[in-house]
Amino acid sequence: MEGKFVVFEGIDKSGKETQAKMLYDYLHNKGIPVIYTEEPNPKNAIGRLIKMWLVGKATVTSPESITLLYTADRYEHLKKVVNPALNVGKNVICDRYFYSTVAYESAIFGMDKEWIRTLNKNVRKPDVVIFIDIDPEISLKRQRAAPNDRLEKVDLLQKVRKVYTEIAGEEKFFVVKGDRPKEDVFKDVKLVVDRLFEI
Ligand SMILES: Nc1ncnc2c1ncn2[C@@H]1O[C@H](COP(=O)(O)OP(=O)(O)OP(=O)(O)O)[C@@H](O)[C@H]1O
Ligand SMILES: [Mg+2]
Repeated sequence: MEGKFVVFEGIDKSGKETQAKMLYDYLHNKGIPVIYTEEPNPKNAIGRLIKMWLVGKATVTSPESITLLYTADRYEHLKKVVNPALNVGKNVICDRYFYSTVAYESAIFGMDKEWIRTLNKNVRKPDVVIFIDIDPEISLKRQRAAPNDRLEKVDLLQKVRKVYTEIAGEEKFFVVKGDRPKEDVFKDVKLVVDRLFEI
């Protein structure tokens, strides 16, 4: 039987990795086979290039290229990591996916959402997308960012959050309020996960 594909989405510092790893431990401790993985994916060259670009160590100048790189990383990640695991019955928890590209590249660079959807036409549909929603101000509190980045960052994350919220309705995301103690957030994550895994 195929594994289940669970995706976490949300703005910067919303707690995706924290919740994804709590979920990994929860399933693993129940003897349910599961892997944790992430986008951009450090296991492949394209993912590593994106990570370098994110910290200013690689130059990519056009927003179209960025969008294409994220998409290429995704297809590689699916082929090499996600699909092989799902096909042998392992469950996959993925920290960020296709929806991050739609939200960020459309909000930050004005990339056309339909173009991004077309590029990603052949990516696998997750069984559930858990959207951890926080206010950008909370994101800032959790960042150790320089104070002069502040206003721009809030504006930008506000736009990203808006796109996420729009897609959340269209794609039936499971929305979780992330501005609470992580154990409380996880109680909500468990609601959808227990249903999906029939726990
Ligand atoms: N519910 C929570 N309440 C308070 N702090 C939290 C909560 N969840 C996570 N954090 C803290 O916020 C920071 C970001 O968490 P985490 O790395 O899980 O988020 P993320 O969404 O993966 O971030 P990024 O977008 O940077 O990858 C960490 O310092 C983490 O300990
Ligand atoms: Mg993270």
